[in-house]
This record gives sequence, C-alpha cells and structure tokens, in this order.
Amino acid sequence: MKSDARSTADGSNGAIEPAATIRRVAEINVNGADVAVEIDSRKPLLWVLRDDLGLTGSHYGCGEGQCGACTVLVDGTPRRSCITSVGDVAGRVVTTIEGLAPNGRLHPLQQAFLREDALQCGYCTSGMIMSGAALLRRNPSPSRGEIVRRMEGIVCRCGVYNRIVAAIQSVAETPPEDDQ
Ligand code: FES
Ligand code: FES
Repeated sequence: MKSDARSTADGSNGAIEPAATIRRVAEINVNGADVAVEIDSRKPLLWVLRDDLGLTGSHYGCGEGQCGACTVLVDGTPRRSCITSVGDVAGRVVTTIEGLAPNGRLHPLQQAFLREDALQCGYCTSGMIMSGAALLRRNPSPSRGEIVRRMEGIVCRCGVYNRIVAAIQSVAETPPEDDQ
C-alpha cells in the first residue's frame, strides 16, 4: 500500500503509532511469583499465561468472555482471561489452576471434583474450579441456590452441572437450607 506523505502541524504524518511505542508491562504476580513480561500490554492474559508462561491449565473456548473456560482469579476475583489484557493485571495477583495446587498438593475442591466425578472431557473444569474456589473463599457455606447462581455463567458442554454443584457442596461448611 502507498504511504501517506502528508505532514501535520506537529510534524508527524498522522500515521498510527508504531508498535515500538506500545506500553510494556513491567511485572505481574502469577501464582505467587513476580514475573517480568516484556510484551504488548494489550495482549490477552490467556495467551500470556499459555504461550509465554507455559501455564496451559486455563483453556480457550469462545474467546469472547461467554463460556468461562479461561477463568482465572485476579486479586481473588474470577476474571475471563480471554478478554482481559495483560496490561490490566500489571501489579495485581493472578492465580491460575496451577496455583491452586502448589507442590502438586491438590486444593480441596480439586479433590472434590475427582471424588464426585465432576468432569467428563475436562474442558470447562479449570474455569469451574477457579470460580468455585473463589465462591468458597468468599462464602464457605453457600447454599445450593447460591452455588448454581454463581456458576451458571460457565458452560459445561458435557452437561455435568449436577456433579459440579455436588462437588462444591461437598467442600462447603455446613450449607444452610436451600434458598431456591
Ligand atoms: S474462552 Fe474466555 S470466556 Fe470463553
Ligand atoms: S466436562 Fe466437558 S465441558 Fe465440562
């Protein structure tokens, strides 16, 4: 394509900023470790985790924030990493499914998913577990109704929803009467 040679009042030719001027991320904290990433800060967090840091437990499903397969925790809150830029999490604490099992010791909810057979293909599982873990941290005794409400944004194509809810219930402390 032919370049535009016109000049503007500030001496530039009005062209889009070159990639070299894109802000770069200095540091993020992933699973308890500070990590320096030299990268386009607009890059989706999911791809930084998977491609740059080798943390492949967070999955790509829709890429549009609709399915929840890519869910991680940012400062303890579930976030869809496919639509979160890495620049947005600079200086914040990111936890992935790998971070729930330091030294290979499974989180109680991971153990519950195995015990309750709460997965089939496993594609949704890390997103389900991250969201469930965040829910239990915020409320250790959620009712079945609250569990269903908090988890309903995550799609399980295999349809094992009942077993997923059962797994979370099995970890909850003395759940109250169902409020549904
Ligand atoms: S891949 Fe992120 S919400 Fe579907
Ligand atoms: S276990 Fe297959 S998508 Fe949920």
